Amino acid sequence: MGKQARAIVDLSLKELVKDLNKAYADEWLAYYLYWYLAQIVSGKAYEDIQEMLNKLAKDELEHATELADLIIKLGDVPTANPMDLEKNANAPYLMPPKNTADINRIIRIVAEAEAGAIEVYNKIAKKTLGKDHVTYQLVTHILSEEVTHEEMFENLLER
Ligand SMILES: [Fe+2]
Ligand SMILES: [Fe+2]
Repeated sequence: MGKQARAIVDLSLKELVKDLNKAYADEWLAYYLYWYLAQIVSGKAYEDIQEMLNKLAKDELEHATELADLIIKLGDVPTANPMDLEKNANAPYLMPPKNTADINRIIRIVAEAEAGAIEVYNKIAKKTLGKDHVTYQLVTHILSEEVTHEEMFENLLER
């Protein structure tokens, strides 16, 4: 981002990048969690859940990529050390269940993670509305995908 592009951001750049880096950490934790759950899930009809988890994992990695790109555009860098990802995240890592066939527990974990993501992006969207159009556009795009993710897994619970 050039000088003028940064100048039109009507927010503290430092605070904005901090929020984006926290969301970036959340995305890596979500990516790892869903990817991991997709590997270990077992039991009855596990293939459907595995497929959904792999799809979500792919989306979360894409979100991390989009956030990294924006952080760099804003003149900073994303978290360099993976050890710092959980420290920087908005919420602690949700541990997978010991019982890999406990699909209900897995669904609840994903629904909880998605609810957290929705809260995070809603907050950043409110902060950037009318103040940083580029960030606003990205976070509302990510938010709409998290809304879809939550719905996918909540629907499974209602069955
Ligand atoms: Fe995400
Ligand atoms: Fe998600």
